[in-house]
Amino acid sequence: MNVLLASSELFPLIKTGGLADVSRSLAEALRQAGIGIDVILPGYRSVREKLPAPSASYRFDDAFLPQNMVVLEYALPDTGLRLLLLDCPDLFDRVGGPYADQVGVDWPDNSARFGLFCRAIAALLAGRSTLLKRYEVVHCNDWQTGLVPAFVQHESLPVKTIMTIHNLAYQGIFPRDEFDALSLPDIWWTYDKLEFYGNFSFLKAGIVYADHVTTVSPTYAREILEEPEACGMGGLLQHHRGKLTGILNGADYDVWNPAQDALIRFPYDANNLAEKLHNKLDLQRSLGLQLGKSIPLIGLVSRLVHQKGIDWVADVMERMAGEKVQWVVLGTGEKALVQRLQALALRFPKKIAVTIGYDESLAHRIEAGSDLFVMASRYEPCGLNQIYSLRYGTLPIVRATGGLADTVVDASDDNMKNGTATGFSYRGDSADDLEQCIRRAVGFFSRRKTWETLQQNAMAQQFDWQSSAQQYIQLYRQDA
Ligand code: ADP
Ligand code: GLC
Repeated sequence: MNVLLASSELFPLIKTGGLADVSRSLAEALRQAGIGIDVILPGYRSVREKLPAPSASYRFDDAFLPQNMVVLEYALPDTGLRLLLLDCPDLFDRVGGPYADQVGVDWPDNSARFGLFCRAIAALLAGRSTLLKRYEVVHCNDWQTGLVPAFVQHESLPVKTIMTIHNLAYQGIFPRDEFDALSLPDIWWTYDKLEFYGNFSFLKAGIVYADHVTTVSPTYAREILEEPEACGMGGLLQHHRGKLTGILNGADYDVWNPAQDALIRFPYDANNLAEKLHNKLDLQRSLGLQLGKSIPLIGLVSRLVHQKGIDWVADVMERMAGEKVQWVVLGTGEKALVQRLQALALRFPKKIAVTIGYDESLAHRIEAGSDLFVMASRYEPCGLNQIYSLRYGTLPIVRATGGLADTVVDASDDNMKNGTATGFSYRGDSADDLEQCIRRAVGFFSRRKTWETLQQNAMAQQFDWQSSAQQYIQLYRQDA
């Protein structure tokens, strides 16, 4: 079975968040399961620069597409994956991120950039290019690929469509004149199709027209049927709930494994946890924190945005600044949150270290060197860092929402007794609730034996891609 996975991010070539990790590891797991999987990605400049010369190039025969648009083919290093890049300099050859420029302002032509990405994918599927391979399934991810199922349906192509929602809050909403500029069929401009409160939404197109809609955890699949998690699409999703399922993300344990992580100084596993403490001292030293094995160290690697509850974390950091707790934060994001965190680090340099930027290597060192890892997300479709944390014996503190609720088992009395506890989770919508949970976790930290039992439980958890990939394959095979 040939499947085309369409995404706007792919680790390690281009990544702003978990979507990149998922595109890469899901594609790899599908390949290993015998699926003929190709990944298609926009030909961003930064991606082109990282790749050698393409092994092939294909032209389009489609009046809606720019003359100079081509598809470049690559064999990805370190894997057997085939990558297709949609090359179109006017749209993708720029300095900046995939969605926004260097200062974080969205590209003004995003509807054209991703609208034409979708059209080009439909043209490939329809055979209007020199690429001869045929695909039975197209697997779309997030709003950037949302128009694909609509085009496939419009042209009655014999291709199964899957739409995976990684974050319902990003809906690809644009005004009517951009709908016209994309020459989309007029019949799509109704409330039950693409129109969305006077604008139109790429993601809505995917939800309406895909054969199957999935999201990245079972709990989030339930939560998005109601506001506020539904982000205005509750009615729509309820209408289509028959084709909506939650399939939990996995972790790529080739990349996130403390026993063979080239980015950390002291590799370790569940049998030599003492090495973990060397990583902790190393982290404390390199960030200028007070050295001490017995000071609980709480890590955080995240986009610094409202979704992630960073304001609650900052409140608790401030409240606990006089106590024996340390914090290490790595992230990029909203200016106000960044400034607040930086100010805290300046006031308490031995207790709080804040690094603003994107740093893959520091992210691994934080996972390895921290005792606890905090994710106070307001909502979290799946979340990957808590899964990585489990494997690193870095006990997650999570707000029980979405994928966080599906992956972390709270150290309640019952769960301690039956041996299932792997971390700390809490409910509630305030810094107080988070603070309580953090204090509870810190209390456990001083009980060494119990702590080690929790670490052993956490490190034994398996959230690999094999079983999730099988669930996607079932959907690819299932009739709509
Ligand atoms: P989201 O996709 O909502 O940002 P996830 O938990 O699914 O959240 O995935 C985030 C991914 O991005 C993780 O692999 C995390 O390590 C990584 N990440 C986030 N911010 C940074 C950063 N500043 N530096 C390095 N990696 C980061
Ligand atoms: C999104 C979500 C995150 C999820 C990731 C990968 O960015 O915010 O929870 O893990 O996509 O599916």
